[in-house]
Parts: sequence; structure tokens; C-alpha cells
Amino acid sequence: MKSYFLQVKEVIQETPDTITIQFWHPINEQVKYKAGQFITITVPDKDKKKIKRSYSMCSSPSFDTAVAVSVKRVKDGIVSNYLNDHVKIGDFLEVVEPMGTFFFEPSETPTDRNVVLVGAGSGITPLMSIAKTALKSEPNTKVFLLYGNKDEENIIFNKQLRQLCDTYPERFEIVHVLSKANDNWLGLKGRISQASATMVFKDWGVDFQKDLFYMCGPEGLMQEVNKTLELFNTPSENIHSEKFHATSILDELNEAEASELKIQIVKVIYDGETHDIEVAPHQTILEAALEKDIDLPYSCQAGMCTACMGKCTSGKVLMDEEDGLTESEIKEGYILTCVAHPMSEGVVLEIE
Ligand SMILES: Cc1cc2nc3c(=O)[nH]c(=O)nc-3n(C[C@H](O)[C@H](O)[C@H](O)COP(=O)(O)OP(=O)(O)OC[C@H]3O[C@@H](n4cnc5c(N)ncnc54)[C@H](O)[C@@H]3O)c2cc1C
Ligand code: FES
Repeated sequence: MKSYFLQVKEVIQETPDTITIQFWHPINEQVKYKAGQFITITVPDKDKKKIKRSYSMCSSPSFDTAVAVSVKRVKDGIVSNYLNDHVKIGDFLEVVEPMGTFFFEPSETPTDRNVVLVGAGSGITPLMSIAKTALKSEPNTKVFLLYGNKDEENIIFNKQLRQLCDTYPERFEIVHVLSKANDNWLGLKGRISQASATMVFKDWGVDFQKDLFYMCGPEGLMQEVNKTLELFNTPSENIHSEKFHATSILDELNEAEASELKIQIVKVIYDGETHDIEVAPHQTILEAALEKDIDLPYSCQAGMCTACMGKCTSGKVLMDEEDGLTESEIKEGYILTCVAHPMSEGVVLEIE
């Protein structure tokens, strides 16, 4: 994986708990990315260990001069709070090259399909990049955004979104949904649900067979919107989704299964070396390796980028998230260490 040291060009306070960090491209080189992809930023933790987290670009690869990410504070979160508290103009941050399969590529030929975006909170970041890219590069495409937040103060990019509506009054529509709206709020209230998504999509005149759907937000939001898309038989190749945080599959085990969980020793063969890694119940194999300073490859830590892929040649492994792998990779025994839990003795992994 290629790394850059990118210099901070600007830091913008978007909402009380979210900043946008704009970076200069390196001298003599452009950071190449697709609308919707993410970079992975490395920062030191309190023990000066390097710690990485992924952030989607909110900038458009084709139209914005700076590469930009927006970072929302997570309660007690190490990197999101470090970036919000410490980053300033002129700093250099270590960044792993853009990656990710959640992206929009403008059509090279005229198209009459539209782009439907659904997000909540910081999930707006890749959607913002996609919205700007689609509106500017496809003159006939309409972009629709259904966006959930707590209240008006916490709507990330509120001003820029309004400006995009003014620039493209015929081609960009937004519906905001607020879960803790004040009494003056006249828009939709609550969380985005199957019912509200269906109502809004129909209102927009969405074509469920032809339009492209991009969703980014918590698991619950995707499940609700997916119910609508399933109901209207939207082709799966037109549905794109990204989660920022994988939920643990171990939380779904019944009491008897959960009581069986125990420490497992996983043999990992990587870079000509063999490591016996002790993985505690509820830890992922990657977490256990990093805790012991074993430098396995990784980037997003959410099952989205495949940077941590390995082949399980023996034993049983359960994954929180399988979307990053193809069906044939799963059949061949490939796993993602960042979301994988050993479920038997004798797990052996080979990482290329
Ligand atoms: C592909 C990808 C793209 C992303 N893009 C963005 C982005 O554009 N903007 C952005 O702000 N974040 C984004 N994230 C999330 C980001 O990578 C970090 O996970 C987030 O900033 C929290 O990191 P932290 O070190 O502050 O928290 P940690 O120290 O890792 O976690 C602290 C606690 O919060 C929980 N937690 C961690 N992340 C979340 C979350 N997202 N929601 C709820 N609970 C959480 C953890 O389980 C833990 O209990 C993205 C993640 C992925 C995988
Ligand atoms: S680190 Fe990205 S899929 Fe595991």
C-alpha cells in the first residue's frame, strides 16, 4: 500500500463536533481517487503507537483542488478526537492511499439514470463527493439526497448543500430527517425508516430499476432502506452501501454459544514469519495482532477494503462483515482479519 505525507491546507469547523481537513496534493503528484473512496490517516496514540482510521473524501476528485475529509468526534474515540483537537494548517499527516469499493464513476456516454443518496450523520462525507461529482459531470442526471441527523445544528455541510441546491435547482433535491428536531422544524422527524424512505423516493419519482442508490450510515438505516429497495426489486448491482463501523457478529450468538467463546491461539504466516497470536473472546484477529505489535497489513478495519485479507487453511473463523469479499473468495477460505474471530482451535492463516 502506498503512503503519502499530506500537508494540511485548511481546517474548517463544520458543526460543533465535526471538522473538515483539506490537504494539498503532494508536489509533482496528484492523489488519485474516485468519488466515494476513503483514505486512511495514521496518528500517534498516547503511547506513541501508530494508530490508523479511515475517512472518506468529501471532496470531488474531478472538481475540487484539495483532497478533503470530514471527521466527526466519536465519544471517547482516539483518532476522531485527536484530529478534531490537534490538527492545524501546515501539519503533515501520514495517509494511506485512497481505496474502497463504494464509489461513483461518471458515465462516459449520456445517461438518463439518476443518483439517489441516503445517509446519516458523518455518512454524508462520501455522498457529498458523489453528489458534487454526479451533478457536475453528468448534465442530465438528477441527484436526490435523504439525510438524517439529530438536529439542525448537527447537519454537516448544511450551507454547502443549500448552495448546491441553488446552483442546480432542477437537478438536486434534499430531504432532511431530524431525530431530535426543535418545535420549529417543519420537515420530517424521527429516523429514516422503510416508510419514510418509500414515501420520499416515490415523491421524487425515483426509478427503482434504473437509478443508482448509495447508502452510508449505521446498520439500522441500511436495513430500513434495503427493505424498500427489495420491495421494488431494485437490481443489486445498482445498490451500493458502506458502513463506518462493523457490528460484532458475536453479539448475535445465543447464550449457550457465547458461553463457549474462549481464548484461541491463531497461527498467522506473514512475510516469511510465523506468529502464534492469542486472540481473546470478542477480539478480532487483527486487534490481537496489533496489540502484540505484530505488524499485519490493514487499512479500514471495517471489512470494507480487503487490505487485511488472508486465507484460512485450517480451523473455523466467523466474520462480522462479509461484504468486502466475493462469494468465490469466501468459498476458497479467504477472510478479513479486521472482522474475523477464531471459533475453533487450530486456526491457521496465510497472508500474502
Ligand atoms: C471506510 C470508512 C470510511 C469512514 N469515513 C469516515 C468519515 O468520512 N468521517 C468520519 O467521521 N468517520 C469515518 N469513518 C469512521 C472512522 O474511521 C473511525 O472509526 C471513527 O472516527 C472513530 O474512530 P476513533 O479512533 O475516534 O474511535 P475508536 O477509539 O476506534 O472507538 C471508540 C469507541 O467508539 C466506537 N465507535 C467507533 N467508531 C464508531 C462509529 N463510527 N460509530 C459509533 N461508534 C463507533 C468503538 O466501538 C469504541 O467503543 C469511516 C470508517 C470507515 C471504515
Ligand atoms: S482492513 Fe479493510 S477490510 Fe480489513
